Amino acid sequence: MTGARSGIAAEAARRRTFAIISHPDAGKTTLTEKLLLYGGAVAEAGAVKARSGRRKATSDWMDLEQQRGISITSTVLQFSYRDHVINLLDTPGHRDFSEDTYRVLAAADAAVMVLDVAKGVEAQTRKLFEVCRARSLPTLTFLNKYDRPGREPLALLDEVEDQIGLRPTPVTWPVGIPGEFRGVIDRRSGEFMRFTRTARGSTEAPEELVERSRAATEEAPWWEPAMEECALLDAVGADPDLKSFLAGESSPTFVGSALTNFGVRHLLEALLDMAPAPGPRTDVHGEPRPLEKPFSGFVFKVQANMDPAHRDRVAFVRVCSGRFERGMTLTHEPSGRPFATKYATSVFGSERDTIDEAYPGDVIGLVNATDLGIGDTLHEAEPVAFPRIPTFAPELFAVARARDTSRFKQFRRGLAQLAEEGVVQVLRDETTGDVAPVLAAVGRMQFEVFAHRLEHEFGAAVEISPTADKVARRTDASTAEHLRSTPGARVLTRTDGVLLALFSSPRWLERIEADHPDWTLDPIVVD
Ligand code: G4P
Repeated sequence: MTGARSGIAAEAARRRTFAIISHPDAGKTTLTEKLLLYGGAVAEAGAVKARSGRRKATSDWMDLEQQRGISITSTVLQFSYRDHVINLLDTPGHRDFSEDTYRVLAAADAAVMVLDVAKGVEAQTRKLFEVCRARSLPTLTFLNKYDRPGREPLALLDEVEDQIGLRPTPVTWPVGIPGEFRGVIDRRSGEFMRFTRTARGSTEAPEELVERSRAATEEAPWWEPAMEECALLDAVGADPDLKSFLAGESSPTFVGSALTNFGVRHLLEALLDMAPAPGPRTDVHGEPRPLEKPFSGFVFKVQANMDPAHRDRVAFVRVCSGRFERGMTLTHEPSGRPFATKYATSVFGSERDTIDEAYPGDVIGLVNATDLGIGDTLHEAEPVAFPRIPTFAPELFAVARARDTSRFKQFRRGLAQLAEEGVVQVLRDETTGDVAPVLAAVGRMQFEVFAHRLEHEFGAAVEISPTADKVARRTDASTAEHLRSTPGARVLTRTDGVLLALFSSPRWLERIEADHPDWTLDPIVVD
């Protein structure tokens, strides 16, 4: 192995690439801000002033940027901690929940699931976790907002196990109840760390380690119940276990309060100590591609018009092997055409910084990447292609029509472009074709973005009206044949040729599945 090649393995080993999944309001933004604070990427949470002329907020992080004046932008935040490079990928969550959210998880090596202790497992977390499970993504759990009243921690653990089928293994355990929070015991070392309220956590939390015997006296009456609970956890074998965590079966669990920074360091340390570094990515032939092979990566997100000042299109590429150097010419799969990388950028910061090199686990933004689509591979030297990115079947359906029929040409062009970018899925049948295609999505905002862009970028105003369809499944030609004569079902063809069966009721679908177990009705759809 040459020096440069072994350097790649060492660079990969010190990287951690992960995403935070949570339900809106559980504290993802706050935790992100605190991770940046601990990583030294911002000097004081809430202190970095927003620069003027910022674009309209469309993602959580842009909201954060505006509301709290933190100078960050969506997609990926890179910072260092303990000689490691951490890539935190944004999973758009609030109003802009979309298929992008799923795709981002394809670029992550681990996830942090944030739960509000008062609310437990909520709908969006469940949905996102399904994606993590489909990819066997190792997931850490952070029970947040312990500084205020909430639910019993043991009950929360049961809920995680019952509702999402992930076995929580507490690393830290609370002393005191939510709202009367005294601190945490690290179950590995037995150390007690006392909770101190900081003023909204604008600086790192003071960490007071207290001797167990002293804690037992000072924290009575909370100490005894906490000890009993720890004994119970020991008895049921709920100890953190690296093997089952890496297999996506158990989840090391942390207790804290992102707002006051408490527990943030425990989590960050665990990311370094337990979460996996980038490893060989499996290619389309099922072969793991060694990290030291020449450069390769895949596109997991494409965003057009990020900067209204320059109409552009940025493709975000997750590096899988080799060393990326700006200026290198890569090959684009599937077209086989060369792709110049003169305009590669890093994506931290509201301004684009030119990126000169990147290693496995990193994300690069390629500007003016008109030919790059989601799931495409870029590589150096001999050809390689990574599998397309699977997503979940869409859940929202609407018909789109051009308001002004004289603009039909523009409507059609926009439709093709936005379908290719993955803004929405475009479905057709022989009767409606391009006149009234069906749009499918997982988040309502996808339709809004589609309508807005079609009108402003292509000059074709659209009318969007919901259809009666409620649920979709990927199907095949032979099942499609049966479904054509089944009431309450119809089969449409997606732009890329995938057949999607649409049903007017989830119950009806269940019944069809029960009656015809041999039919192909798959909830996971590959892009
Ligand atoms: P999200 O990105 O997951 O949607 O959640 P976000 O971080 O924006 O947090 C949602 C609300 O919960 C915010 O309050 C935030 O301050 C609060 N929060 C987050 N973590 C904690 C915590 O550990 N303890 C407590 N007590 N609150 C927490 P807000 O009122 O919506 O905003 P703000 O006015 O506080 O900024």
